[in-house]
Amino acid sequence: MPRCSWHDLPPDLHRAVEARVGPVTGVQDLAAGSAAHLVSVLTTAEGQVFVKGVGAGTRAAVIQGREAAINPHLPRGCVPRLRWTVQDEGWLLHGYQYIPGRHADLSPGSGDLPLVITTLNAVCAALSPCPDLDVPVQRFADRWAGRIRAEYVEGDTLVHTDLTPRNLLVDGTRAWLVDWAGPCVGAPWISAAFLAVRLIRAGHHPRDAEVLLQDATAWSVATPEALDAFAEASARLWQQRAIEIGAPHHAPLAEAAHRWNEYRTDAKLVRGAQPSA
Ligand SMILES: Nc1ncnc2c1ncn2[C@@H]1O[C@H](COP(=O)(O)OP(=O)(O)OP(=O)(O)O)[C@@H](O)[C@H]1O
Ligand SMILES: [Mg+2]
Repeated sequence: MPRCSWHDLPPDLHRAVEARVGPVTGVQDLAAGSAAHLVSVLTTAEGQVFVKGVGAGTRAAVIQGREAAINPHLPRGCVPRLRWTVQDEGWLLHGYQYIPGRHADLSPGSGDLPLVITTLNAVCAALSPCPDLDVPVQRFADRWAGRIRAEYVEGDTLVHTDLTPRNLLVDGTRAWLVDWAGPCVGAPWISAAFLAVRLIRAGHHPRDAEVLLQDATAWSVATPEALDAFAEASARLWQQRAIEIGAPHHAPLAEAAHRWNEYRTDAKLVRGAQPSA
C-alpha cells in the first residue's frame, strides 16, 4: 500500500477517528521513510495527536498492533502513550500522545547525549524484568541466531533494538523513545550496544562512544567478550545490508560498526597480552 495522507482516508474512517478526538482542524502528514502507510499529526480542540496507520490484515498491521499492545507496559514520561485504536474501512489506526520534539543530535558535544542516556536508563529499569505481555516478543538470541552466541545476549529485559536518532525525540528537557515496532527480550545492555554504533556513526571515536555509554546503567553488566561478539556481529550485519539492500544509510552504518569492531579487536589483543593477576 503506498503512503497516504489523512485527506485520502475514507470519510467513515475520518468520522470514526473524530468520534474519539473531536473535529480535526489541522493535518500534518510526516515525510516518507516510515514503514506505516499513514503517519500524520492531527490538530484537534484537545491538542495534537500522532497517528500511525496501516492496511488491516497486512504484515505491517501485525507489527503495528504489537507495538500498540506493549505500549501500556512501557514507562510514562519517556515513551508516548497510546491514546486510542480505530479499526475500520480496511485500516488499523493508532493515536499516540504527540511529542513536540526534534530528532536527537547524537554528535560529539551534543546536549542531547545525557538526555538520551537518561531515557535509556529509565526504559531499561522499567523493563527489567520483562513485563508480562499479551503478545509474543522474539528473544534477541533468536533474532541474531547464527550471528552471535545465545549465551552472550540471553536475558529478561524488554529491549528496543532500534536506537536511531529518528526514534529519539528531544523536547528540550527530555528524550522520548518512539517506534517500539521491533522489540526483543534479551540482555539489558543490548539497546546501549545498538546506540554505540549510532554514536560512532554520528562522529564519536569508538573509545569516546564507550566512555559515554558507561553512564548507561546496563553497560557494565555486559562482559567484554559479549561486547566483542556484538561489535563483530553488528559489523557483519550492516555490511550485509549495505551489499544486499544498499539503502543510503547502510554504508555509513557498516563503516561505523566496522570501526567499533576494529577498536574492540585491538582492545582484545591488549587484554590478551596483559599478564593475569
Ligand atoms: N508520538 C510522537 N509524536 C511526535 N512525533 C512522532 C511520534 N512518534 C513518532 N514520531 C515521528 O514520526 C516518525 C515515524 O514514527 P515511527 O518511527 O514510530 O514510525 P515507523 O513507521 O516505525 O517509522 P520508521 O520506519 O521510519 O522507523 C518518527 O521518526 C518521529 O519523527
Ligand atoms: Mg522509526
